[in-house]
Amino acid sequence: MQLKEKTHKGLYIKNYGCQMNVYDGDRMHELLSPLNYKRVDDPNDAELIILNTCHIREKATEKIYSELGRLKKGFNNPKKNTKIAVAGCVAQAEGEELVRRAPSVDLVFGPLTYHQLPEMIQEITDRKKGKNKALVNIEFPARDKFLSLPERANKKEAVSAFLSVQEGCDKFCTFCVVPYTRGVESSRPAVQIISEAKELINNGAKEIILLGQNVNAWNGEGLSGNRWDFSELIKRLSELNIDRLRFTTSHPKDMNNKLIRCFFNIPKLQPYLHLPIQSGSNKILKAMNRGYSKQQYIEIIEKIRDIRPDTAISGDFIVGFPGETEDDFNDTMDIIKKVRYAHAYSFKYSPRPGTPAASMDLQIDEETKKERLFKLQELITSSMKTFNESFLGRTLEILVEKQGFEENQISGRSPYLQSVHMEGHNSLIGELLNVDILKIRENSLFGTIV
Ligand code: SAH
Ligand code: SF4
Ligand code: F3S
Repeated sequence: MQLKEKTHKGLYIKNYGCQMNVYDGDRMHELLSPLNYKRVDDPNDAELIILNTCHIREKATEKIYSELGRLKKGFNNPKKNTKIAVAGCVAQAEGEELVRRAPSVDLVFGPLTYHQLPEMIQEITDRKKGKNKALVNIEFPARDKFLSLPERANKKEAVSAFLSVQEGCDKFCTFCVVPYTRGVESSRPAVQIISEAKELINNGAKEIILLGQNVNAWNGEGLSGNRWDFSELIKRLSELNIDRLRFTTSHPKDMNNKLIRCFFNIPKLQPYLHLPIQSGSNKILKAMNRGYSKQQYIEIIEKIRDIRPDTAISGDFIVGFPGETEDDFNDTMDIIKKVRYAHAYSFKYSPRPGTPAASMDLQIDEETKKERLFKLQELITSSMKTFNESFLGRTLEILVEKQGFEENQISGRSPYLQSVHMEGHNSLIGELLNVDILKIRENSLFGTIV
């Protein structure tokens, strides 16, 4: 009897870090689909494992090394000759060092070279295991990677889809590795973005979330060769057959009046803005090289709330940056009270190799960082709770994105990005529904369809 040949090869992709990695992970899958790779949920079922990594904090990087150790031990089928690839920002930053510390790795490639995946896979397959070194491909290439990527593939549950429009960063905040891992700031031309948006819409997307390390710094080639700014891009995208538009992450320095007005002029643009301030102390903001003061930040928030009072604001905070005194920290606490954040991420400052802040004087001890983070997170949690509770008894428009955890339950997002769960049939996925909010839990709302 002839053995039935397996028709596909398992591809296990694990994304770490920001949404841009989620986008890149999907694109890697799309690149490998024609080579018969199919995504699997268990690394033991994979012929190719890709860890799509994040280098932003020390913990994020160390996680990768422990995962590599675990993967090596966990393999239950060594005959498969599973290949291990490390992609993303750790790959870009560590390069050869990764192979030295984790010799089981076959392939290392960065966020700007993943479009060469099919060729790289071919190359490591042709190499005899053990005889050749791993392949490390972390050059910043001259050719735009996006030009080499295939069309967007149909993805299950793609009601809300990510679309990278801008990559890299030139701002060089003194604590941050992104300019070194993602390269210089670059904006994709509008023609590419609009055609990718159309592909996503054809695949069923009702919401598009534009991505960039500094998305609002987007300034690219318009449709007739002229330059467009980000507000023009948003306006044009809103003319497509889509229900909702969002963008993230924005930098306060690039938040101009024209863009702020979009929150009023473009109803499809949802009233939610992720605008990290990092610290509420002007002294620390300066040392961070953020390029704005807390007064300028507050002014932006006030302008947005003037024209669209219900806009939810979210942010990022770093506590324990070198030189941060108790007074500086209290300035950050004051900002949180003032802005009334709907959501926020907060981190202990993590010194990153090669960044200026890592060698600054007055590094803060771990215990102080921990205490400050705890206090700050308490305040943020209470701010989020107040924000969510203000919706009790109100009706919100929800875009249904997926099946809920319970039977006959669906879930989606409010305009303010809250997760909302309600009773309903799967067939409602992709619909915009009015939902009465009846119950608030820590991170989600529960309601009933009107
Ligand atoms: N471009 C965005 C942020 C991208 S990085 C901006 O400028 O706002 C995401 C978040 O990680 C940052 O907002 C910051 O809060 C955090 N972060 C970056 N580097 C860090 C470090 N060295 N230690 C702790 N948190 C850091
Ligand atoms: Fe990093 Fe600053 Fe660039 Fe944001 S703006 S990615 S924090 S260097
Ligand atoms: Fe991390 Fe790179 Fe994103 S360092 S946050 S994965 S840009």
